[in-house]
Amino acid sequence: MKNSVVSCVLLCLAVRLVLVLLFPGLGSTLDQSVEFSTPVTSFRSLQEGIFLLKHQLGLYDGGVVHLPPLLLQLGCFTGGETGLRTIFILVDCIIVWLLTQLELTLNGSIRCAWIYGVNPLTVLSCVSGSTIAFTYLSLITAIYSIVVKRNLTLSSSMIAIMSYLDPCMCVLSLPMFNFICGPKKLAKTVLYMVTIVVTGIMLYSICPFPLDVVYGTRLTFASVAPNMGLWWYFFIEMFQEFIPFFKSVFNLFSMGMVIPITLRFHDQRNTNPLHCLILCIGWIILTKPYPTLGETGVFLSLLPLFDIDGISILKYMRYPMFTALLFLHGILLSPIFYHLWIDLGSGNSNFFYAISLVYALALGLLITDIMWGVIRLEYDGGKPNYTRKLTQV
Ligand SMILES: *[C@@H]1O[C@H](CO)[C@@H](O)[C@H](O)[C@H]1NC(C)=O
Repeated sequence: MKNSVVSCVLLCLAVRLVLVLLFPGLGSTLDQSVEFSTPVTSFRSLQEGIFLLKHQLGLYDGGVVHLPPLLLQLGCFTGGETGLRTIFILVDCIIVWLLTQLELTLNGSIRCAWIYGVNPLTVLSCVSGSTIAFTYLSLITAIYSIVVKRNLTLSSSMIAIMSYLDPCMCVLSLPMFNFICGPKKLAKTVLYMVTIVVTGIMLYSICPFPLDVVYGTRLTFASVAPNMGLWWYFFIEMFQEFIPFFKSVFNLFSMGMVIPITLRFHDQRNTNPLHCLILCIGWIILTKPYPTLGETGVFLSLLPLFDIDGISILKYMRYPMFTALLFLHGILLSPIFYHLWIDLGSGNSNFFYAISLVYALALGLLITDIMWGVIRLEYDGGKPNYTRKLTQV
């Protein structure tokens, strides 16, 4: 097993290194694409922020940088672009290693790590230098430390770091509570919550920053730019006076839905807390204001975790083929339709929006289909019976 872990990490490293070395321009091309880069996570804004910080200019005056300062401080230690790209590759290797450890503990196999290592979406996201790598590094570390190490403090600090990097993800702390079990559950939950808040405040007070520029941009979708998400088209089309109302509705919809999912699957006798967490991650990726395909790549690599302890929830899925084809369709056509609209001018925004709807439908179908599987397993009392036919009312 040790050998396969090493070979998995090496393969992850090799794929990314080869792409970066063979195609030096690929990174900046991907960084210009709407699929892998957004105004709040792009490599350009990271570089810009580091430049401004090094020259002690007003970091958030220009309205280009929306990254929290500690991440930029960290970037200052690396020498230039080569250093930054190396960091991104290393971060992905660490994620792969964490995934191997996580799945070995649960399952004795390392499919997640293989998928993460070679999945084109995660590979291209790494090459594009999207800062979501750091967000997901902290998320996966949080999962690793609570599932493998049973270390609540480390896990909650990692959740705090994740929320510090991306406030849209802070609601993921709710499904994390499901992992806490045993005696003194309530005390541990409170401690977990307090650690998140204290770590968050500490991170903020080490290096304060204007909250509205860094977090406000993400939460209020201040920079309306096309992306793979569901938000941009609405706010381009909408009358000015309705925009603030609908922004709050969209935010409530995105973050609020995590609460019912968490409550529905909180019972540990019936559902693995990991499953609930992954469903919530999928939901957030589907509805957040600035999603990228790299995040979907991470979500897809977590799917083998629905297949642990010899019980396969994925086998309950009713239309896996249809979902897979929708994904392919959406992901392959989106750059083409964007090119038709922006570069050639022979299409319009509806082309690109239609294809991002197809992609959102694929992601939504995948989430609901897996949710159906989780509920079916509960109905079958933990012993899967794939031949039993049920109708959903
Ligand atoms: C599975 O469900 C079918 C149909 O309800 C039933 O006939 C069969 O006995 C079940 N199998 C097991 C192993 O429970």
